[in-house]
Amino acid sequence: MSSAQQAPRGRFITLEGIDGAGKSTHLAFIHDWLSRHDVDAVFTREPGGTPLGEQVRALLLAPQTQVSLDAETLLAFASRQQHIADVIEPALSQGRWLVSDRFTDSTYAFQGGGRGVPFERIRALEDWVQRGLQPDLTLLFDLPLEVAAGRMSGTRQLDRFEQEAADFHQRVREAYLKRAAAEPGRFAVLDASRGIADIQVDIAGHLQTLLERG
Ligand code: TMP
Repeated sequence: MSSAQQAPRGRFITLEGIDGAGKSTHLAFIHDWLSRHDVDAVFTREPGGTPLGEQVRALLLAPQTQVSLDAETLLAFASRQQHIADVIEPALSQGRWLVSDRFTDSTYAFQGGGRGVPFERIRALEDWVQRGLQPDLTLLFDLPLEVAAGRMSGTRQLDRFEQEAADFHQRVREAYLKRAAAEPGRFAVLDASRGIADIQVDIAGHLQTLLERG
C-alpha cells in the first residue's frame, strides 16, 4: 500500500485483572472470535512482548528478585516503551488489531494500588512513554479475591506478585475498579466470577461494538 493510501489505524485492546482472574482462557476466546471475524490481530503481553520485555518479565516475576518500588515501576515502563516502539505502534499503524495481556492499568493497580507508588509518578511515566497512546477498549476481569485465589491454587510455584498477601491483592482490585469508574468509555468491567460462557457472551458484545465503530 502506498503512503497516500494509509491503512486505517487498528484497534488496541487490553486485558486486565487481579492474578487468577482467568485472562488466559478469555484470550483464547478473543483469538478465535477475531479470526472468525477476519480481523488480523497481534497478541502480546506485558511485561514482555519483546526480547527485552521478556527479560524484564523474568526479573519482575522471579520470587528472589530484590527491587525497590521505584525500580519496579521504571522496569515496567522500560519494557512498555520497547513494546510500544517495536510491536504496538507498528501493528496499529499497519491497521492490525493488537490485544495485550496487561498494559499500563496494571502499573496503576499493582505498583500504585498494591505497593503505594504515587499515582502522579506513574502518570508522569505514562505521559512520557505513551505520548497519548491509550487502549480503545480495556476488558477488566473483576472477581473477589477468594475466587481468584482458588483458581490459582495448583502445583506451579507462585510468582513474586502472586505471593503477596491478600490485602495487597485487595488494593490492586480496588485500584482497578477506581480506574474503571473514572474512564467508563474505555473500560468494560466483566464479572469474572460467573461461568465462562456468560463472560464470553459479554466479551463478544464488546468486540462486536468495537468492530462496528468503523
Ligand atoms: P500475568 O501477565 O501472568 O498476569 O502476570 C504478570 C504479573 O506482573 C502480574 O502479577 C501483574 C504484574 N505487573 C505489574 O506489577 N506491573 C505491570 O505494569 C504489569 C504489566 C504487570
